[in-house]
Amino acid sequence: MTDSPRVVSGPEGIAVAAEALRSGRLVALPTETVYGLAADATDPEAVAAIFRVKGRPTDHPLIVHIADATELDRWASSVSPEARALADAFWPGPLTLLLTRSEAVGDWVTGGRDTVGLRVPGHPVALALLEAFGGAVAAPSANRFGKVSPTTAAHVVADLGGDVEVVLDGGACTVGVESTIVDCSGDEVLVLRQGGVSVEALRAVLGFGPRIETASASPGEARAPGMLAAHYAPSAQVIICASDQVVAEAMVLSAEDDPGVVIGVLAPGVVEGLPVGVIELEPAGDAERYASVLYDRLRQADRLGITHLLCVPPPAVGVGAAVLDRLQRASVR
Ligand code: TXA
Ligand code: MG
Repeated sequence: MTDSPRVVSGPEGIAVAAEALRSGRLVALPTETVYGLAADATDPEAVAAIFRVKGRPTDHPLIVHIADATELDRWASSVSPEARALADAFWPGPLTLLLTRSEAVGDWVTGGRDTVGLRVPGHPVALALLEAFGGAVAAPSANRFGKVSPTTAAHVVADLGGDVEVVLDGGACTVGVESTIVDCSGDEVLVLRQGGVSVEALRAVLGFGPRIETASASPGEARAPGMLAAHYAPSAQVIICASDQVVAEAMVLSAEDDPGVVIGVLAPGVVEGLPVGVIELEPAGDAERYASVLYDRLRQADRLGITHLLCVPPPAVGVGAAVLDRLQRASVR
């Protein structure tokens, strides 16, 4: 392993990345949600390297990324009408469908489960790579286990260094939070993770509101491994505040006058009246913009040495619900 990965882009970069996948190596690839750490989904050794590099337990299943919805029947053994409708409406895009897996899916991808997560990513570079590679790739987010997901190639390089051979740079991720995971493998349609496709948008296509599984606190309670509450966390302690409380919270914290405490604020807009010494991160804007900058701001907070980050979430509608979910997970200690 070298100390730094090869960062590539454009048509040549896509060819290099496709070749790396073919020879069983790992590639960090851009998607519209976050960067993924990809390997040939049919190669058990290549997929094992993903778990090693991430430091992720091998019973945490990976999402299989496919080039288009016609591949559904190859990787899933049965596709419900609801799943079909959601794929038609949202692919390519930030939606992962859990379905009963077909014979094509190895245990090494699903951690032995009988379901598989499938997604057609809505990023031209990811789609071009899947086409050039000619297969499917298993890919979790390209961060170390439990840490903040990367939304730029530079984040991946900073996190994984030479543990990944090739980083395909496709610019900053536009959605910025992970895909919405919808379990369509059982009798009931269940949202396991809120993300880039809002629950309102799911409801509009399904004609009913799917049940939303809330974050669980401990591994034993998690219905899907990886849905732990204490995920997506920066080093800074995230504290969620209402917009009319953030100044008061900042005052209470700074009144403690503890030299070890560095207070930061992340809010949709400029906050007036913060005490001196509080670091105000650049405002995150409306829900869509907030989602797209969230992980970069959390990383920035760590770089600035912020120990306590007061976060005013955007309204919890549309992708704002996913932003609030990630802030809640990040706030669990
Ligand atoms: O936006 C995304 O979904 C990104 C990009 C790279 O596509 N991927 C991503 O993967 O967020 P990951 O592995 O970081 O998160 C996927 C989550 C994990 O918590 C995993 O346990 C769960 O989905 N998952 C995947 N397949 C599953 C299955 N068959 N059953 C239950 N949970 C599953
Ligand atoms: Mg992840």
